[in-house]
Amino acid sequence: MNSIILQQPGKIVFGENSIQQLPEDNLILSSNRILFLIANPLINAVKPVFDTMSTAGKKVVVIDYDFPGEPTFDQFDTLLNKSAYFRPDCIVGVGGGSVLDCAKLLAALTGNEQQLTEIVGIGLLKGRSIKLICIPSTSGTGSEMSPNAILLNEETAAKSGIISPYLVPDSCYIDPVLTVSLPARLTAETGMDALSHCIEAYTNKFAHPAVDTYALKGITLIADNLEKACKNGTDLEARSALSLGSMYGGLCLGPVNTSAVHALSYGLGGKFHVAHGLANAILLPEVLRFNMPASPDRHAAVALALGVKQGETDEATALAGIVRLQEISCACGIPQHLSEIGITEEVLPELADIAMNVTRLLKNNPRVVTKEDAINIFRKLL
Ligand SMILES: NC(=O)c1ccc[n+]([C@@H]2O[C@H](COP(=O)([O-])OP(=O)(O)OC[C@H]3O[C@@H](n4cnc5c(N)ncnc54)[C@H](O)[C@@H]3O)[C@@H](O)[C@H]2O)c1
Ligand SMILES: [Fe+2]
Repeated sequence: MNSIILQQPGKIVFGENSIQQLPEDNLILSSNRILFLIANPLINAVKPVFDTMSTAGKKVVVIDYDFPGEPTFDQFDTLLNKSAYFRPDCIVGVGGGSVLDCAKLLAALTGNEQQLTEIVGIGLLKGRSIKLICIPSTSGTGSEMSPNAILLNEETAAKSGIISPYLVPDSCYIDPVLTVSLPARLTAETGMDALSHCIEAYTNKFAHPAVDTYALKGITLIADNLEKACKNGTDLEARSALSLGSMYGGLCLGPVNTSAVHALSYGLGGKFHVAHGLANAILLPEVLRFNMPASPDRHAAVALALGVKQGETDEATALAGIVRLQEISCACGIPQHLSEIGITEEVLPELADIAMNVTRLLKNNPRVVTKEDAINIFRKLL
């Protein structure tokens, strides 16, 4: 068996209303200046928690995060200036992947001599001195578990990944109650993102038994509960299952990571501002059809985890799994074609070129993807 490194938050608190335990967290108790970066729709839900800290004598500053789409370098700079002015000793991010990625980078770069542009890439961040707590409010990116952060370079329209063990939070609180306010469309898109993390980890060229179990369990939890949560946002059983599935997906990101679905979605997000989860959801079935011949057994195992019955062959089981995936996606209201989100034939070569540059993810794909393959996959989805 190959060796693998699992780097996870030092403390993971999971459960309904778990955020209420935050004021008693050792990281908070040992901090004096606490900066909250909070997605705008969550401010009221988190207010009692930061009010408790203020009452206990902590200096608390709340930044209301209200940027649309993927966070850009410029937007991050604005946040960094505010953070540098306050000089926090602990940063708490509450929100979807955009907010958590920014909170992770704020903790890394506030008061650090390194500049953002110096740390884009893998393993370039030299350290982090500010404590970091992440609290997801979507069941999607798994950013609260991962060493990754993604910003959009507005000049080049390229999504830039910053990957470092120092970006893994010290603690995370996963409270499904925070996801209840997430509208159905965002629940569907972010849930499909989490599902794609699990599927891309399990079918990955570098898949590993140490995280396979998380990936398969995550697939089942999300497949069984995504439609329920989309139809009834207050179904806390379904919300909790999605939060757990997303956590499992996040646990796969550091050690194994994603592959061609995420690579092909880079241009859709960076250039055409398609939401991360939506782009992945549309691409997932067709990429799986492309990858399946490379490992029919692994793709059949994904299908079984999605809830289909064993077929006569692994190929048959795997294909039934892809159909099941599309049923779930359709039932949750996700568009199935790129043309539905404004993508036309002319832009496919450019989208493929952008994908070809995402070698850090493409190298994980079970099948080599050429530019022509990428164009063909996009074209089938028009
Ligand atoms: N770091 C990682 O490992 C990783 C992995 C995948 C994606 N990402 C990044 O994460 C970002 C996408 O994150 P996301 O899909 O979670 O969406 P998001 O953070 O962009 O949020 C989408 C919208 O949902 C709103 N929202 C969030 N939680 C809510 C709630 N509980 N109730 C009501 N509204 C709520 C936000 O205010 C925002 O308007 C992208 O920038 C992507 O590149 C990071
Ligand atoms: Fe993702």
